Amino acid sequence: MATGMLHTHYLFVVLFTLIYLIKTILLLSDRDELLEKFKKKTKVAEMIISFGFLATGIFLLTQVPVITMLMIVKIVLVLLSIPLAVIGYKKKNKILATLSFFLIVVSFGLAHKAKDAKAGGKTLALSGKEIYNDKCALCHGDNGKLGMSGAKDLSVTQMDHTNIVTIITNGKNTMASYKEALTPEQIEAVASYIETDLKGK
Ligand code: HEC
Repeated sequence: MATGMLHTHYLFVVLFTLIYLIKTILLLSDRDELLEKFKKKTKVAEMIISFGFLATGIFLLTQVPVITMLMIVKIVLVLLSIPLAVIGYKKKNKILATLSFFLIVVSFGLAHKAKDAKAGGKTLALSGKEIYNDKCALCHGDNGKLGMSGAKDLSVTQMDHTNIVTIITNGKNTMASYKEALTPEQIEAVASYIETDLKGK
């Protein structure tokens, strides 16, 4: 559900950026008439896209167990770019409009950086489920029952929350420690995922 929402959010972000790219190009190349025409034509679409962009963004924020520094920076950049864009296009101020477009692109770039960081080993995954599928399913399986290299069946685990957090943090026998790879909040999230979605299923 959250993944579908994430894709919808990306779609809105791409459309939003595209509209602003065209507007910025028209403004910078002094095509005032064309800019006005384009603004008129895309007015309703832009309103829907901006609303979708913000609404899906806010929804996603309510779904993440940890709000990272990177997310805060992204939100601030996006929120900053909106008034800049409004003033920039109204007053046809090229500097403000360009700056606003630049902020949107930078925050877009940050989103990709977060993905790269994930590929580099540090998971910045959103939910316990994503962390589990990324790091744990290899041995424990999607449903917790795989038992690869002696992994315990998580659907029948008798461990309480504290012990689950401890084993993820410190590891045991062939199960590695996740102290370095995951933040304490992520460990909490994945432990909760085991308890609510795998245990007893
Ligand atoms: C390399 C394979 C491997 C990976 C990857 C792995 N585990 Fe394990 N896990 C094991 C093994 C083996 C055990 C049994 C350890 C023992 O008791 O000797 C175990 C035990 C556990 C237990 C204790 C279950 C019980 O009832 O005793 C939990 C909880 C657990 N793992 C969670 C996780 C989580 C969460 C992740 C991902 C962050 C993970 N594991 C990744 C192999 C793995």
